[in-house]
Amino acid sequence: MPNPTPWQLARRAERMNPSVIREILKITERPGVISLAGGLPSPDTFPVDAMREATARVLHDTPREALQYAASEGFAPLREWVAAQMSRQGLAVDASRVLITTGSQQGLDLVGKVLIDAGSRIAVESPTYLGALQAFAPYEPEVVGVECDDEGPLPDALAAARGARFLYLLPNFQNPSGRCMGAARRDALVAAARSIGLPIVEDNPYGDLWFDAPPPAPLSTRWPEGSVYLGSFSKVLAPGLRLGYVIAPAAMMPKLLQAKQAADLHTPGFNQRVVHEVIRDGFLDTHVPTIRARYRAQRDAMRAALEAHMPRGTRWNVPVGGMFFWVELPEGLDATALLPRAVELGVAYVPGAPFFAAEPRANTLRLSFVTVAPDVIERGIALLGRAVGEALDPARRAASTLTA
Ligand SMILES: Cc1ncc(COP(=O)(O)O)c(C=O)c1O
Repeated sequence: MPNPTPWQLARRAERMNPSVIREILKITERPGVISLAGGLPSPDTFPVDAMREATARVLHDTPREALQYAASEGFAPLREWVAAQMSRQGLAVDASRVLITTGSQQGLDLVGKVLIDAGSRIAVESPTYLGALQAFAPYEPEVVGVECDDEGPLPDALAAARGARFLYLLPNFQNPSGRCMGAARRDALVAAARSIGLPIVEDNPYGDLWFDAPPPAPLSTRWPEGSVYLGSFSKVLAPGLRLGYVIAPAAMMPKLLQAKQAADLHTPGFNQRVVHEVIRDGFLDTHVPTIRARYRAQRDAMRAALEAHMPRGTRWNVPVGGMFFWVELPEGLDATALLPRAVELGVAYVPGAPFFAAEPRANTLRLSFVTVAPDVIERGIALLGRAVGEALDPARRAASTLTA
């Protein structure tokens, strides 16, 4: 009998996984379910009018340039804007070290392509951003999870990552844990990494979304030649633009650029021009504070609801920026096993286990507070509290089923 398919998949394709979160989100998308699961920014923050006006101006002033193929490095004025912005944060770079990418997700892929050989080690936080694990996986690394506390990796634990190609870090309002690294931890961690020659890939899509005070300066300012920095416009403007950037040491830029050319020639020039038109005169200085104020109120609503409704023995951090709470259920509970019942009651979240490269912690879960209004957050957390309460005391579920 002839072979039913002439195709044979590459080994790297075998390494590609569906995003576990996307699979989970499918069951959470039932009508009527309050979703605290998504990782999306609030669409109410998208600057629609500013985008509309800037789009009209670009189409009026430079329509043919905007619609033509463009430079792989990115639109020069946007690269200059990024370089100036980073210099204000203490990372003195010129535009030649800025590569505009199709979202920072593409930056992760390019970094993986350029730095990872099959079998080489890379080190990540526990837990870490699932999309980064997905981006790196096809390059067949051996992923080492570094021990962490509420501020991120423990400097003393870095010895386990010795010899790794890089350490992937999210110092600000981490996805998924919401945690933020203090200045002293940043100093100690970079010093420890530097002492063992372990370069750092710093991913910072949430750093501008602080609630009370800006986070400490980027890790990359402490060791510029040993760092690659990734930024994004997704959380301060809109993710549909697919605009991010990579800042890398000069010696690495040609290889990143070649990888970028092979991937997509360049990031859409039209989007780059529109975004530059929106932000060139300081728009973000007034826009981002409105996002912060909105998310802060939602954070407060979720904190109050957790305090009111979660059974004793449940722990959570209080994020000082970003989009997520990280919850630890009482020991012995399994957030993945609990999800179907929570959805049945009318609330969804993301279980924490898939965010761990090794030794998943089954009792953890991630809650997003940014796409749901404060009164709905309150109702959602009340339902979550009920689901957890039932799991702790199955008799309670039986009673509630009888009275329902
Ligand atoms: C930590 C982290 N890095 C990168 C990304 C990708 O962002 P972008 O939209 O810029 O591709 C995300 C998206 O949620 C994220 O949470």
